[in-house]
Amino acid sequence: PIIHYVEANGGEYEVDVPVGNTVMQGAVDNMIDGILAECGGVCSCATCHCYVDEAWYDKVGEPEGAEKMMLEMVVAPEPTSRLSCQIKVTDELDGLVVRLPVSQY
Ligand code: FES
Repeated sequence: PIIHYVEANGGEYEVDVPVGNTVMQGAVDNMIDGILAECGGVCSCATCHCYVDEAWYDKVGEPEGAEKMMLEMVVAPEPTSRLSCQIKVTDELDGLVVRLPVSQY
């Protein structure tokens, strides 16, 4: 499935991310700077914050539990904020657009 990453500086990347990987892994594997992912994907750093495009938010779904708590700590949260390490890529998410924040701190 193709995931579109839009950096805060306007840079755009289209990446084919394997099903079962996370949106965070797709960014890190392709050296997309807007996602740091310091904890490696265990939902404890919140440096993989992204904004899910409004049109996709229902399909991606809302954060739960630990992710919801971590999202309270991110800089500049928005209604469609998610932690990209908690979004698993599926065929249904082919074409997904996520925007990345100016900074993860
Ligand atoms: Fe650390 Fe997502 S990579 S919370």
